[in-house]
Amino acid sequence: MSDFGYDISNFTEVDPIFGTLADFDAMMVQAKALNLKIILDFVPNHSSDECEWFQKSINRQDGYDDFYVWHDGKLNAETGEREPPSNWVSVFGGSQWTWNEVRQQYFLHQFQVKQPDLNFSSPMVREHMLDVLGFWLDRGVDGFRIDAVPHIYEHRNADGSYRDEPINDWNNDPNSYDYLDHIYTKDQPETVQLMYEWRDYLVQYQAQHGGPTRVLLAEAYSPVETLSAYFGNGTRLGTQLPMNFQLMYLSGYSTAKDVVGSIDYWMQTMWTQHQTANWVVGNHDTQRVANRMGAHKVDLLNVIVNALPGASVTYYGEEIGMSNVETECTEISCDDRDGERTPMQWAPVKNADFSTAENTWLPVSPDYARYNVQTERGVARSSLQIFKSLQQLKSSSAFLAFKEEGGFSYEAVTEQVLQIVRTNKRSEEYRIFVNMGNSIEILEGLSNKVYEYVLVTAYSLHTPGETIDLRERLVLMPYEAIVLRWLA
Ligand code: NOJ
Repeated sequence: MSDFGYDISNFTEVDPIFGTLADFDAMMVQAKALNLKIILDFVPNHSSDECEWFQKSINRQDGYDDFYVWHDGKLNAETGEREPPSNWVSVFGGSQWTWNEVRQQYFLHQFQVKQPDLNFSSPMVREHMLDVLGFWLDRGVDGFRIDAVPHIYEHRNADGSYRDEPINDWNNDPNSYDYLDHIYTKDQPETVQLMYEWRDYLVQYQAQHGGPTRVLLAEAYSPVETLSAYFGNGTRLGTQLPMNFQLMYLSGYSTAKDVVGSIDYWMQTMWTQHQTANWVVGNHDTQRVANRMGAHKVDLLNVIVNALPGASVTYYGEEIGMSNVETECTEISCDDRDGERTPMQWAPVKNADFSTAENTWLPVSPDYARYNVQTERGVARSSLQIFKSLQQLKSSSAFLAFKEEGGFSYEAVTEQVLQIVRTNKRSEEYRIFVNMGNSIEILEGLSNKVYEYVLVTAYSLHTPGETIDLRERLVLMPYEAIVLRWLA
């Protein structure tokens, strides 16, 4: 638990603190019965230093010699001292190279010292990792979220040495990840090929074993052109969902025009080239929307991601408007990301019904009595109700027509008001309006049709079922979001 599950000591086991493989299998049975799909977090870049593979590699055991990235380091001509092979800085700060006394070599770790990087130029590593995928596919999972994709390969010179990365001009701390431009440690061409190999493996698996398409989501904080390569090209298929984190960069000050800028960044490349989209609301490495943007914007972001075509990727709790919790360092956890990792809030009872244990690993939010699934089920216009209504809209014929010419559009109709249109053009059209600002907005002549309110957020003065003539005025309250429907 050095990085809370991202330090794997056995890739085909369940950590005893979470249960057993039998528990896992029982969960899969239950999930299938509920028609839910389960995907696993797949962490190929590194293992734990406690992994048997690393221990074998330290001791240069049978075939494990180059399972990890090892190097003698360089001798400093002036001091005569040994130095790391390159200036590379780890994502969590400090050198990417740590000396191992037993093997008398440096090993590479793009993340923590306790997370040595596996060496993907070794065919045996690649084979082992395919076996890991196969192991969990055999247990019935529907796909994987692949961790830290950009970091899987590093560039190595033909003579086995490593080049220093260039220092950028905006960070002065040599121990900070942002000190360098990561041209040799991120998004290497081999990583693109690896995505294609893994997708091929999934395709073959389906051909052999049947069942639905298995999915690969890639965690990659990379430029959209790189994400496009991970997705695939004319001849090769890669990850179906290279995760789009653009909306996570919005803040409380972001306007509708900023939102459009974020949407454009993705659409102009990914939609134009591949007609694909996905929108990530948040994750366990980032503050919750309520903290990043303000509690009154949670529903707005939920409306936006669900109104856009493609997949919305929601982090647990965002659908009920959970906030970061102020956590204190304890013996079991002391991470600056703890605040967004607190227990899911199910009901207004002890531990928010997350656990029957006396204490939970991280504290339950103090506001769980208000923000929880059970309570929100009974509250009109709660975040949960809005979220669920949006999910239903996604299967309407207008929402399903997104690939048709003119089937959808988005624009900032004013600095603060975002409009998204979804239509099958024959019989049904939805107009979604989101007021990102803190002022009343008055809009005129938006359309020549009469619409019906089908969804309103908490700040709205309207009720579903009311009609509105968009030839005339539309008034939006601060932070109001609405969905209007026109029926032929
Ligand atoms: C990304 C994960 O989301 C994060 O939680 C983890 O620390 C790093 N990858 C390293 O695995």
